[in-house]
Amino acid sequence: MADNEGNIEAKNYGIGIAQKCGSFFLKGNSHADWGVQNRLARIFNPKSGNTVMLAFDHGYIMGPTSGLERMDLSIVPLIKYADCIMCSRGTLRSVVPPEMNKPVALRFSAGSTILTELNNECLAGIEDAIKLDAAALAPMVAIGDPNFEALTIRNLAQCADFTSRYGIPTLGVTAVGKNLVRDARYLGLATRVCAENGATFVKTYYCDEGFEKVVAACPVPIVIAGGKKLPEADALELAYKAINSGARGVDMGRNIFQSENPVAMIQAVKAVVHKGLSAKDAYQMYCDLAKKASK
Ligand code: R5P
Repeated sequence: MADNEGNIEAKNYGIGIAQKCGSFFLKGNSHADWGVQNRLARIFNPKSGNTVMLAFDHGYIMGPTSGLERMDLSIVPLIKYADCIMCSRGTLRSVVPPEMNKPVALRFSAGSTILTELNNECLAGIEDAIKLDAAALAPMVAIGDPNFEALTIRNLAQCADFTSRYGIPTLGVTAVGKNLVRDARYLGLATRVCAENGATFVKTYYCDEGFEKVVAACPVPIVIAGGKKLPEADALELAYKAINSGARGVDMGRNIFQSENPVAMIQAVKAVVHKGLSAKDAYQMYCDLAKKASK
C-alpha cells in the first residue's frame, strides 16, 4: 500500500554515477523507437547532449504576456538561436514561419486560464500534432493539485500512448501550484511520476538544495523552466547551476523574451548550456552583445 513517508528517507541516489545510457546519447531512451530517438536528436544537440528550448506558450493561459504581445516582432527574431521552440498550435500556425525549420515541442493540453482554476485540462488532437510535424507533445502535469492531479496524470499517460504509437516524444511539464513548495522532495516526486507514466523527458524547476537528487532519481532527461523574470545575471546563474547539477537543458521563456536584450540573452544562455560557460562569463558575454547591439 502506498504511503507518504517512503520517500522521506530516500538516500541512495548514486550521485556522481551516471545512469547507463545504452546506445543512445540521452538517458532512459535507448529502447525508444527510431522516430522518438530521431526527434529527440533534433531537440537535443547530440554533441553537447543539451538543449536550449525557447518557450513562448504562456499566452494559452495568461493571454498577452509581457514580451509576447506581438510575437511576430519579439519572438520570431529569436527563433534562429533556439534548438527547439515550445508553443501552442495557434501560435505556430499564425506566427512561426515554417521555413525556420525548428523542432517544435507542441503545447498539447489546454482547458482553463489564470481567471479560473488552472490545470483543468484535456489533450489536443494527435492528428493535428502529426500534421504540424511536432517533435514533442507537451501536456501539463499538476502533481499535488487537489482537483486535477488525476486528470493531468491521465492526460500524460494518454500522451505517452501516442508516443508509443506515433514516435513523438512526450515532454511532461510539471506545473507547481501556488500552495506547493518547489523543493527537492516535491520536484523529485513530480518528475519521477512523469517518467513512470511514460514521459520521454520532463520539464521542471530548479531548486538550490538537492536538485542533483531530483535529476538522479528521474530516469529520463530533465530540462528546467526559467520561471518569473530575474535579473539577467541571476537567470544565467540559474541555468549554470541546473546544468551543473545534471539538467540536460533549459526550456526558458520570460528570462529570455522579457530580458532587456533578448537576442543577447538567448546567446548567453546557449553558451552556458552547450559550452559550459560560467555564469559570470556568460553575463559578460550578454553585456558585450547588448552593448554592441545598441551602437
Ligand atoms: C508556462 O505556462 C509554460 O509551460 C512555459 O513554457 C514554462 O513555464 C517555461 O517558461 P518560463 O521560463 O517563462 O517559466
